[in-house]
Amino acid sequence: MARKKIGLIGAGNIGGELANLAVLKQLGDVVLFDIPAKENFAKGKALDLEQATSLSGADAHVTGTGKWEDVAGADVLIVTAGIPRKPGQSRDDLVATNLPIIRDVADNAKKHCPNAFVIVISNPLDAMVYEFKRRTGFDAKKVVGMAGVLDSARFALFLARETGASIKDVRAMVLGGHGDDMVPALAYTTINGVPVRQLVAKETLAKIVDRTRKGGGEIVSLMGTSAYYAPAAAAIAMAEAYLGDQKRLLPSAAYLTGQYGCKDLYVGVPVIIGKGGVEKIIEVELDEEERGMLKKSIDSVQKVVDVVKASA
Ligand code: APR
Repeated sequence: MARKKIGLIGAGNIGGELANLAVLKQLGDVVLFDIPAKENFAKGKALDLEQATSLSGADAHVTGTGKWEDVAGADVLIVTAGIPRKPGQSRDDLVATNLPIIRDVADNAKKHCPNAFVIVISNPLDAMVYEFKRRTGFDAKKVVGMAGVLDSARFALFLARETGASIKDVRAMVLGGHGDDMVPALAYTTINGVPVRQLVAKETLAKIVDRTRKGGGEIVSLMGTSAYYAPAAAAIAMAEAYLGDQKRLLPSAAYLTGQYGCKDLYVGVPVIIGKGGVEKIIEVELDEEERGMLKKSIDSVQKVVDVVKASA
């Protein structure tokens, strides 16, 4: 069977780590794409990664390019093209710079990779994935945004450290938009089935929820740029679910058509990812407070999407 082709659009910090993980997990051959001005950078990164395969033993080719033709026919596209946050910036501050970039990527993806399963990471995530889908006209099942898996991973780590439990046993679920009003769903957050509310005091839990919401910003203020190891690991989990038809339930930005009282918007919700892409959107019960928080988060996403639509 031919190896799968993984196209990574953006060869920066997240792109490089995505490539590394895709090779190590042998998901397929990797093409690292960047703009012409950074084509050599992409080529150098690809060569470095490919040389590492003689130590890891991974059978994968890694190519760096500035030409979309080289990405043609990709089975999976992961999009990180854009500018990351700097200290003091919100994700929404990135709209003006990243909107023309996502449009350029969407037009080329439509032309060269019409059958790909597309995972968008560029921020502001919920608006960028919306625009990608709108612009390409791709089936909503094949276009998804990476945020919930990352936000849930951050939440899970903080809970593991607070409780002393193994990270393996923490199941965390964060819903809503990928912004500071995301919604940690406590009823679905457990240490191997035991609800965290039974294990962590209310005030401590509130602090952990707050740290999770600002989890991206905490890293931006420490590093001066945004995170890349955990975002890459999160997107790779989604790509693996698709390529391996794993039917994993993963919180992801999915196109809603009435679920959670929301229409024509990408919002973070639990979905099943398998060979059909986003095969199912799961509607979970939320308590009144969580429903209120989700509504607020949806309203924030809508505001950014309205800005995007107004400039279409
Ligand atoms: N097509 C392809 N790549 C592009 C384009 C384009 N039109 N425009 C910019 N890029 C490339 C940049 O040249 C850069 O190499 O995208 C890459 C982004 O890499 P970094 O600046 O290192 O940013 P990174 O940390 O990887 O984050 C990328 O993901 O989480 C989000 O907020 C983050 O929007 C940002 C994105």
